[in-house]
Amino acid sequence: MFTSSHPPDPAHDTWRLRDGSVLTLRPMQAQDGPLLDAMLERLSPRARHNRFHGGVNSRPALLEPLERSGQVAFVLTAQRWGQLQIVAEARYCVDDSSDGAEFALVVDDRWQRRGLGERAMRALGNTAAHAGLHWLHGEVQADNRAMLGLMQRCHFCCTPDAEDPQLVHAESALRLSQVPAAPHGWSARVRHMAGAHRA
Ligand SMILES: CC(C)(COP(=O)(O)OP(=O)(O)OC[C@H]1O[C@@H](n2cnc3c(N)ncnc32)[C@H](O)[C@@H]1OP(=O)(O)O)[C@@H](O)C(=O)NCCC(=O)NCCS
Repeated sequence: MFTSSHPPDPAHDTWRLRDGSVLTLRPMQAQDGPLLDAMLERLSPRARHNRFHGGVNSRPALLEPLERSGQVAFVLTAQRWGQLQIVAEARYCVDDSSDGAEFALVVDDRWQRRGLGERAMRALGNTAAHAGLHWLHGEVQADNRAMLGLMQRCHFCCTPDAEDPQLVHAESALRLSQVPAAPHGWSARVRHMAGAHRA
């Protein structure tokens, strides 16, 4: 279960890796298109398959959350040697019931195993909890050891699909441990996006 006590805070969403790279987690923006294209190009076939399950993986599909209410998307950027790249993207789409949301994420192969996936999952959980959602859930390929490892790390409950042995359902309850502070900065924007579908 995700327990969240603070809304996303821009002051805590930039950090530095040991190699000097500066990472920033922030909401996706319309002008991210070219950097998203570049990230898609760099993805290995395996990462692409695990993220999109064979579905559409184009810039318009990635930018869709900006057009639709009930969708929230983050990117993780890395600045190294003066070059800026998008190295991960994470999103959720609110269910018709408005009670939970389905998530998806991908980390650029070259940036995996450095904590980015966990950071992105926690941002999704935190934002969803503060938007009043109660569940986060997603579908994971049964042979996707990395994602199943991440799910375990984030305390998601993983259940094999009853009909498709190649699929696992991962879900976690969301809980706020205290009343959130007044929103500001991009956290306010994200909360607005996330809450736009709710009455
Ligand atoms: C799954 C994925 C998002 C993980 O991202 P990541 O940034 O590498 O993950 P993190 O570095 O935050 O890992 C956090 C924990 O998850 C688990 N984990 C991550 N990668 C793992 C791997 N290859 N094998 C086993 N466990 C793994 C570990 O517990 C890890 O903690 P540790 O490094 O201290 O052992 C990434 O591998 C990826 O983008 N894969 C392709 C796309 C995909 O599968 N998306 C999911 C579809 S919903």
